[in-house]
Amino acid sequence: PSFEFILTEKKGEKGNVGLITLNRPKALNALCDKLVSELSQAVDHFDNDDSVGALVITGSEKAFAAGADIKEMQCQTFSSNVKKGLLKDFEKIRECKKPIIAAVNGFALGGGNELAMLCDIIYAGDKAKFGQPEINIGTIPGAGGTQRIARSCGKSKAMEICLTGSPINAQEAESMGLVSKVFPADKLVEEAIKTAEKISSHSPLIVALCKESVNTAFETTLTEGLRYEKKIFYATFATEDQKEGMGAFVEKRKPSFKNN
Ligand code: HXC
Repeated sequence: PSFEFILTEKKGEKGNVGLITLNRPKALNALCDKLVSELSQAVDHFDNDDSVGALVITGSEKAFAAGADIKEMQCQTFSSNVKKGLLKDFEKIRECKKPIIAAVNGFALGGGNELAMLCDIIYAGDKAKFGQPEINIGTIPGAGGTQRIARSCGKSKAMEICLTGSPINAQEAESMGLVSKVFPADKLVEEAIKTAEKISSHSPLIVALCKESVNTAFETTLTEGLRYEKKIFYATFATEDQKEGMGAFVEKRKPSFKNN
């Protein structure tokens, strides 16, 4: 498919990484409806492409995404939001079974930060800025900001970020656990691709089950989550890839996973 506001390509030595680059430079990748709709289509496309094992979403060096498009939102009303199901395309990204790495350079503000948090791993360039500035424009985060910061970094950080609207830098984001690693800006995307290649070298079936199991930690109680994990762990023993993985270890050779 051809897109107006994003670029898609396959990366990595084996072409097994789906790279999506947000490309609306005039508006610092502000997430207008069309951009989010294209993004969710591209994610779905790579999710259904068997040659791809993991995805990377990135923006430009200046901006990952400066938020929802304020010019587009300005005149929307409560009833128009309800009727249209505002932000429903955002939720579709969450359905992706394959891991998604957000490679964030520059601004990740408002919906931009929320998009990064919808991904499974966040890597930051050393000049990245994260924040939820909605409070400055008379609204609140609407695509998971108040919930996901609280879950990954605790209440005090979530309150501080959402109530002040002030951005934090990459180092702060790393120390509070929002981001897992920080890289020099010009190395960020290649490092994200390397991690995605590593993930893609594993069994896609088992990777999908593992992602689902970690995500369950954010959905339920510890007892339920542990029960779920155990069932999935048991279930992996019904797969050919578990036999292959353990067989290869015992025979001192590299596994060749079949996604079965
Ligand atoms: C629409 C935006 C935009 C946005 C930037 N632009 N952010 N347009 N929506 N969120 C446009 C500007 O209008 C301008 O276009 C161009 O991008 C460059 O922006 P400047 O402001 O001139 O750049 P700079 O001075 O470098 O400042 C960068 C910035 C600032 C600090 C990121 O642009 C900014 O504060 N943006 C808004 C950030 C924000 O409040 N985001 C949260 C949105 S609410 P023109 O044509 O005017 O020159 C939100 C709700 C979430 O995200 C709900 C879930 C999705």
